[in-house]
Amino acid sequence: MKIGLLDSGVGGLSVLREIHRILPTASLHYVGDSAWCPYGTKSPEVIQRRVFEIADYLLVHGAEILVIACNSATIQAVGALRAEYPLPVVGMEPGVKPAAERTRSGVIGVLATEASLAGEKFHQLVSAHASGVRVITRPCPRFVELVEAGLLDGPAVETAVDEALTPLLEAGADVFVLGCTHYPFLKPMIEYRLPDGATVIDTGPAVAKRVASLLPASGAGYPGTIQVETTGELDRLDALLPRLLPALNVSSAACHIGNPLP
Ligand code: DGL
Repeated sequence: MKIGLLDSGVGGLSVLREIHRILPTASLHYVGDSAWCPYGTKSPEVIQRRVFEIADYLLVHGAEILVIACNSATIQAVGALRAEYPLPVVGMEPGVKPAAERTRSGVIGVLATEASLAGEKFHQLVSAHASGVRVITRPCPRFVELVEAGLLDGPAVETAVDEALTPLLEAGADVFVLGCTHYPFLKPMIEYRLPDGATVIDTGPAVAKRVASLLPASGAGYPGTIQVETTGELDRLDALLPRLLPALNVSSAACHIGNPLP
């Protein structure tokens, strides 16, 4: 069974690693749209167009399940994708529901992209699951730049994390949602900045379980292949892979999908 995954860049590899962790025999084909990254500041129309182009590419190459390993793309395009494609489409959304269930202070912080936070689907999520708590949102475009540059720790990350979290902590948040798939790569630094007792929510593991539930039960098998492609520069991807997916056997390639960014 071949699983196709897409993201605006390398962020969705945080979801790929969770899927590989519980489904080591599944073959994974990932496209990171680094040439068009970030999606978070782009219009819904642009995001939708790119997501459809990449989804078509993954389908042509044999994907039988599509994982939109990007909150922004899910929020802006998952409904249209499900209506269009005759295969299971699994999306991501910020973990507002588990956060609202776990907060003790009644204040949760949601870190996500502008595109996700502006989406109708995000507002529905908050009214359906977090009406009784205070939800403070915070776009963190710098986190995406840092991860795309392979900076997962060090002073630049510390500064960005501090700037993002300080206002949320001052407002009393005790649960922090990583609502963008790039952010889990900074999770150790985020946790380091938080006080004891704070909770960080990443929905990657839950999405991996959802994907597993769609596959036929299989016994022991050979490890599946992991193929990671980028619409950006292959050299940059090759430099990032050992940091983002250490110890995984990954084949990488460049791909050209649609038109270059105007
Ligand atoms: N990884 C993406 C997400 O989950 C988007 C980051 C970006 O391109 O702005 O929302």
